[in-house]
This record gives sequence, C-alpha cells and structure tokens, in this order.
Amino acid sequence: SVKGLIFDLDGVLVDTAKYHFMAWKRLAKEHGVDLNDGYAEPLKGISRKDALEILLDLTGISMSGVEKLRALDKKNSWYLEYIMDIDESAVFEGVLEFLDLVKSLGYKTAIGSTSDNSSLILECTGLTRFFDVIIDGYKVTKPKPDPEVYLVGAKELQLDPSECVVFEDAVAGVNSAKTARMKVIGVSRTGSLEGADKVITTFSGLDEKILDF
Ligand code: G6P
Ligand code: MG
Repeated sequence: SVKGLIFDLDGVLVDTAKYHFMAWKRLAKEHGVDLNDGYAEPLKGISRKDALEILLDLTGISMSGVEKLRALDKKNSWYLEYIMDIDESAVFEGVLEFLDLVKSLGYKTAIGSTSDNSSLILECTGLTRFFDVIIDGYKVTKPKPDPEVYLVGAKELQLDPSECVVFEDAVAGVNSAKTARMKVIGVSRTGSLEGADKVITTFSGLDEKILDF
C-alpha cells in the first residue's frame, strides 16, 4: 500500500516552470532567436545542462564549451532574478490543503527535484515544513529521466519504491519515476501527461482517494 508521496517541485507545487522558460527565452533572444511556447515542453523538468543542449539542438544556435558555461550561469542568474520576490502566492491552488490532509493521515512526504534552487523556493513559499525529506540537485548526480532522484527519495523515507507515489508535471520526471517502479500522478493543466498512471489538473478539492491504485 501507499505510504509515501514524493513531489516534484517546479510546475507541480509551485508556479516556477514559467520562470525557467522565461530565462531560456531570454538566452535564445540574445542569440537572435525567438522561442515560441512550443519550446516549453521539451525544456521542462530536465537539468539545466540538458536543457541548454536541447535548446541549442532545436534552434541551431552553436556555442563553444566556454560559452555554454557562461550561458548556464546567465540562465540561472536570470532565473534567480525572476524568483527573487517569490512567496506563498506562487503555490498552486489546493496544494496547502492537500499537504495538510496527507500529513494528518500519516503519509510520509518528500520533495524529488533536481533543481539546485529547491531549498530557496521551499523556504520563500513556506512549504519546507510539509516535507520529511528534501531531495534536490545537490543530493543527486543523475538528472531525470534517470530514476536516481526518486530512488534516493524512497530510501531516505525508508520506504520501498513500490510504497511511493510520485507527483510530476514533466515527461522526463514521469519516466524517472516509472523506471524507479513507482506510481505516477501527472499534474497537467491540459489534463494529459504521457506515461502517467493518473492525471490531475489541480490539487484543488483533491483528497486521499487519488492515492488508491
Ligand atoms: C527542475 C525544473 C527544470 C530545471 C531543473 C534544474 O527539474 O523543472 O526546468 O532545469 O530543475 O534546475 P536549476 O534550478 O538547478 O537550474
Ligand atoms: Mg516539474
């Protein structure tokens, strides 16, 4: 049975995926390329380095090794600039209520994100207190879709992967969780996410029945 819930952060609990994309857009713009919204999905939920490689592939922009390092730094400082004033209002609707509910029911909870900025975001949005374990970019070496982040999450919760359910908004994260042999609840405003066992469009009004598989 389900004993632990592992949540991706960006795009699942907090509305930050848009800031990651804004920073990628700004980088492309510096190279004379306008990124339309179609680029949001392929750049989502993967590591900063992998996202840069995909951006270069898709746009045909080329960079030397040194330029790539500078671009990664720039992207992150712009991202930090965008999230500078982030607070409770960035938490998606219904998230606090759902976290309160599952904690009161005794589920163990973890964050499973490969972002180096996870702790900062959790602190600024007041979410830290809901989690027993926080797995972020500093704790794992292999980015999603590798299962490492979710396997380490289960391990630190002292649970078997089969006892964990993952909440994800990106295909790379769904694949990471599936490879870790966990059930996945997709969080998608459009109502579909490839590979997820179930999909929700919002946490609003959600209760523990969603955890029945
Ligand atoms: C999350 C986000 C990605 C981001 C990655 C690395 O997975 O969904 O968009 O690229 O974290 O985040 P960082 O903040 O370290 O660049
Ligand atoms: Mg995400």
